[in-house]
Amino acid sequence: MLVSDHLEPDEFPTSCRATTIEYIKNVTRLGDILFELLSEALGLKRNHLTAIECGRGRTFVCHYYPTCPEPELTLGASKHSDPAFLTVLLQDQLGGLRVIHQNQWVDVQPIHGGLVVNIGDLLQIISNDKFRSVDHRVLANNVGPRISVASFFNGVFGTPKLYGPIKELITEENPPLYRDFLVSDYIGKFMSRALDESGLDHFKL
Ligand code: OGA
Ligand code: NI
Repeated sequence: MLVSDHLEPDEFPTSCRATTIEYIKNVTRLGDILFELLSEALGLKRNHLTAIECGRGRTFVCHYYPTCPEPELTLGASKHSDPAFLTVLLQDQLGGLRVIHQNQWVDVQPIHGGLVVNIGDLLQIISNDKFRSVDHRVLANNVGPRISVASFFNGVFGTPKLYGPIKELITEENPPLYRDFLVSDYIGKFMSRALDESGLDHFKL
């Protein structure tokens, strides 16, 4: 895992240094554009989500799912929604990512060169449920090892940066549904929750 508001090129193996740095740079730019579009979709100023630093605190997680001889007995990753504002996911051609859509698991078919963008719990909270974080999981398979790269936009980790439902979205008819939180608290709650529990429940008012 790589936490990257600052990159130290020497810390990358030379074999993938240039590619990794280029990838991170481009995903970061993509995040900037996505946060602008999402701000507009919420009826806010284009720079709103960037200004509250949702695009900061990026982590890049490379997953390796070994070939599984009995995939029907297990999962690659169990059901969860991400404790981040936004996730940009690159999965390889084996696929295996599934999302819940209309109460059913749906395969996200790999598209060559395509990226999957998922709303995370933190964007659900600050949008006061206008955006919904998506439940997803990864199937195991017996065809070959699967590789994916998840880029998370977590926001500012440290105190005293508090996030909560965006004031401009709150009215008398649309009161806040969640309490304010520190990103580090949210991630702590997520990590210590029961596996089938959503992190969101801990922050509902
Ligand atoms: C995750 C995740 C999916 C994948 O890292 O949170 O859901 O395809 N990854 O590896
Ligand atoms: Ni996930």
